[in-house]
Amino acid sequence: MTQPRKILVTSALPYANGSIHLGHLVEYIQTDIWVRFQKMRGHQCTYVCADDAHGTAIMLKAEQNGISSEEQIANVKAEHEKDFADFGIGFDNFYSTHSEENRELSGLIYERLKANGHIATRSITQAYDPEKNLFLADRYIKGTCPKCKAPDQYGDNCEACGATYSPTELINPISAISGATPIEKESEHFFFKLPEFESFLKEWTRAGHLQEEVANKLAEWLDSGLQEWDISRDAPYFGFEIPGEPGKYFYVWLDAPIGYMASFKNLCDRTDGLNFDDYWAKDSTAELYHFIGKDIVNFHALFWPAMLHSADFRTPTKVNVHGFLTVNNSKMSKSRGTFINARSYLDHLNPEYLRYYFASKLTARVDDIDLNLEDFIQKVNSDLVGKLVNIASRTAKFIQKSGGNLSSNIDNEPLWQQFIDGEKTIADAFEQREFSKAVREIMALADAANEYIAEQAPWALAKEDGNEDKVVAVCTQGINMFRALIAFLKPVVPTLTERAEAFLGETLTWESAPQFRTNSTINKFKPLLTRIEKEKVDAMVDASKEALKTMETQPKATGPLAEEPLADEIQFDDFAKVDLRVALIAKAEHVEGANKLLRLTLDLGGETRNVFSGIKSAYQPEDLEGKLTVMVANLAPRKMKFGVSEGMVLAAGPGGKEIYLLEPHEGAKPGQRVM
Ligand code: MSP
Ligand code: ZN
Repeated sequence: MTQPRKILVTSALPYANGSIHLGHLVEYIQTDIWVRFQKMRGHQCTYVCADDAHGTAIMLKAEQNGISSEEQIANVKAEHEKDFADFGIGFDNFYSTHSEENRELSGLIYERLKANGHIATRSITQAYDPEKNLFLADRYIKGTCPKCKAPDQYGDNCEACGATYSPTELINPISAISGATPIEKESEHFFFKLPEFESFLKEWTRAGHLQEEVANKLAEWLDSGLQEWDISRDAPYFGFEIPGEPGKYFYVWLDAPIGYMASFKNLCDRTDGLNFDDYWAKDSTAELYHFIGKDIVNFHALFWPAMLHSADFRTPTKVNVHGFLTVNNSKMSKSRGTFINARSYLDHLNPEYLRYYFASKLTARVDDIDLNLEDFIQKVNSDLVGKLVNIASRTAKFIQKSGGNLSSNIDNEPLWQQFIDGEKTIADAFEQREFSKAVREIMALADAANEYIAEQAPWALAKEDGNEDKVVAVCTQGINMFRALIAFLKPVVPTLTERAEAFLGETLTWESAPQFRTNSTINKFKPLLTRIEKEKVDAMVDASKEALKTMETQPKATGPLAEEPLADEIQFDDFAKVDLRVALIAKAEHVEGANKLLRLTLDLGGETRNVFSGIKSAYQPEDLEGKLTVMVANLAPRKMKFGVSEGMVLAAGPGGKEIYLLEPHEGAKPGQRVM
């Protein structure tokens, strides 16, 4: 073999404020398969990762949990490590960005950027929470959209109308953390002068480091002009204080990618023969690959190479970008039970099923990938159990019966040649991250193997005397085909492979996979993998349904509750969006031509609203006038046939005569909020 390559591989560093879910695992499984493939090919491949431990979100999460930030990140790290290990993700090091190595490297890189004149300083005005004494990032401010007036919109864009604006334009802005009205406050910030790297980045993004679709997307940004990047945050902040700038901290995204280097440095410091500079020095000939999701491309393909370039380190060989996971073709959803945490999956299913399924879907493109739960069951059962394991289970017993020894020759040379040829195509597909292609090729060979076994039918041959040699020859070919296929799949299903290796009595390597094994003994065959049971998948989905969990303990309901079960659980914030007010029915009248509606004029104690309500079947207008009721006062106006309705009154009942308008107890005043 040629000189082994030196390869350093990373996956994005997961945030230390939440659990690993199946979406994350698209990335970690993809990276792990690629790394296992490289290692199996004899390359010196190192896979590092870490928790991304800094930032306001983590600080607030710790506060919410009543623990220190350090405790928060230690707890999450232990959980992440366990989840990853149980999914077979074989990091060589899983570290934390909150480490001494990272503090030093971040300081060093910052000093170099500064010395090169790439850091600017200026004062900016930002929203500030005067109660929490905290500057508020856009996502921590909410208020009414300045354009469409939708209430409770976050930060700098409106989910209702899609408008973008600056958080200062929000009407009645409040801090999402304390509810206080933000004030404007000035402070000094540090900026990385990204525009100075425009020509470097225009070249770098086209120099083969990125998928073409990613480079095209970046070209749009590059053409519309780069902005200076704000890399500092004010105290209180959980992160690294900027050297020489008390009270100023590195923004989490400044030190996060440096966390790749720091994790590797930590590994080098305790591993013989692994040298930091060999991999990170400007003139390094080692390969460096980052696997990331499409949401964090600008950080990895613009800011990061520019920083490395300025600070005199090498830049990545490739940034490999993948798409997002959908489940049953929709965004993962807590109410549907498709927002599935790594642990909920592991509680019910074998991790190798998911590794295989993702592999069968992954390509080198940025497309989203879908986990269709029906297809998942079907594909894993048919491919892994029905095709692959079946080859061994149908042939092993005949070898066993004749003493456990493989024959001395190849029964069907042309068929074996397909496996020899297949090896190159499959290796190529793995190298190119075209895992779905690799899996397709492997399964095509499995089909050929099964066809051969079915034709030869060793179980029929074995029934007649004189066929002993033929039976062993056919089954030897069967075992060899199984052996090659399992070796090709070793990066994808390492645990299944281990069990197969125990049966074959050898450690499978890529090199030996296409070499036909003869004249040696194999061990007793034990079942290698069970089928996925649909009940287990259903149980996992049920366990992931948050809203259901609280209902399981309720007694069985009858009547209205049974007819219309409670809706999905909402957060207090969701409820608070609905502005309910006591309203005086100042006027109630029939509407010309409408057989269900009454027109109500509702007095909120200052303003009036015109509301059309479908209560005519149960009320006479004169019975209503002068009464108090409750209305939804901030509902977007709706144009109806008879005019615009500006809200809704609250009523219960199935309809017809059975409509019951809500009426507050005596003493309530029009305009009072109902909470
Ligand atoms: N902390 C940052 C990364 C810093 S890297 C220097 C971060 N963390 S994350 O936890 O939000 O995401 C970690 C990785 O998982 C990212 O690459 C992200 O794209 C990926 N995914 C998170 N959710 C995902 C899906 N639903 N589907 C596929 N990948 C997803 O970003
Ligand atoms: Zn809006």
